[in-house]
Amino acid sequence: MNFVRITLVAACAIAAPLAMGQGAPKLKVGLMLPYTGTYASLGTAIENGFRLYVTEQGGKIAGREVEYVKVDDESDPSKATDNVNKLVKRDHVDVLVGSVHSGVAMAMAKVAKDTGTLLIVPNAGADAVTGSMCAPNIFRSSFTNWQPGYAMGEVVAKKGYKKVVTITWKYAAGDESVRGFKEAFEKGGGQVVKELNLPFPNVEFQALLTEIAATKPDAVYTFFAGGGAVKFVKDYAGAGLKKTIPLYAAGFTTDGTLEAQGEAASGLFTTLHYADSLSVPRDATFRLSYAKTYKLQPDVYAVQGYDAAQILGIGLAAAKGDTGKQAEFAAAVEKARIDSPRGAFTLSRAHNPVQDIYLRQVVGKENKLIGVASKALADPARGCKM
Ligand code: PHB
Repeated sequence: MNFVRITLVAACAIAAPLAMGQGAPKLKVGLMLPYTGTYASLGTAIENGFRLYVTEQGGKIAGREVEYVKVDDESDPSKATDNVNKLVKRDHVDVLVGSVHSGVAMAMAKVAKDTGTLLIVPNAGADAVTGSMCAPNIFRSSFTNWQPGYAMGEVVAKKGYKKVVTITWKYAAGDESVRGFKEAFEKGGGQVVKELNLPFPNVEFQALLTEIAATKPDAVYTFFAGGGAVKFVKDYAGAGLKKTIPLYAAGFTTDGTLEAQGEAASGLFTTLHYADSLSVPRDATFRLSYAKTYKLQPDVYAVQGYDAAQILGIGLAAAKGDTGKQAEFAAAVEKARIDSPRGAFTLSRAHNPVQDIYLRQVVGKENKLIGVASKALADPARGCKM
């Protein structure tokens, strides 16, 4: 009897300050992102976006002051399980935010699932994270690799091209981007005649570019990102292919990279859930405040980081600051319309954004909006049982 009473009193003593946000323990956010390697700038943009939203909320989420614990995951899946376990078991973070690389994110999803830790994925598109590995405590503020690929497959088929070669890194992101492209392109009457690959994060493209020239397809579809994308786009133009074989890409290939790609990127068509010239009011204020804070233009990664923090804010407000109340967290996020700079979106039952995929074209230093390639596109969430 006594035990029950003491427990109740103790529970009230914790719950009251949590609810009011006074004296509540800090909210430990574990940022597991790449800060070195080919995806380093992507990790930084995600962190910038995340911090911007938190700063706009006075540094607090659901009344709890945010404290960051950071790990450089180096986009290395072989170190990912150790890295995420450090955040969960040594640092006792309340929520995991990461990562960029699909292989790393899958290791994070496994640990999140096994330990019941909240996970918000602010980039990595691994289809499995909101497919066969889907879970009530796992959310994504970005996309599946399938989504931009599928949208581009429809665009290229509608242009009337028949034979396409694909080229990408050999890992989940490249494979799944190509699979999405192929699904829509072949449904639309085209054929992927050759799938070229190189290991991540290699950038020795010459032999593969020679093979493209010899194959003479109607067009090429590609996925690269970060430093690798800069080199690929330059090498494609440098090999003289840009003039003869049109290049289509998942939008990551030209997002956050245009300064470095220069003229080699000009005119490229890409598909993505963000563009530089959207007429979304939330985007205008976001871009202004991002540019003011960081002296940089935001890109898709910054938006995804910002929206990861928004998702955390929505869920944790409903859970009254208590990360243990995962049912309340999930219910609130599942019914929310997330007011993103990309345009408002909702999450699917598998917790992946249902969103417009834009067709963009590189004009000057911008990924200019051309139109909506695929309206409210939902990933099929194959294998998700939830
Ligand atoms: C991924 O590994 O899922 C990935 C990485 C970089 C991107 C997009 C997807 O820009």
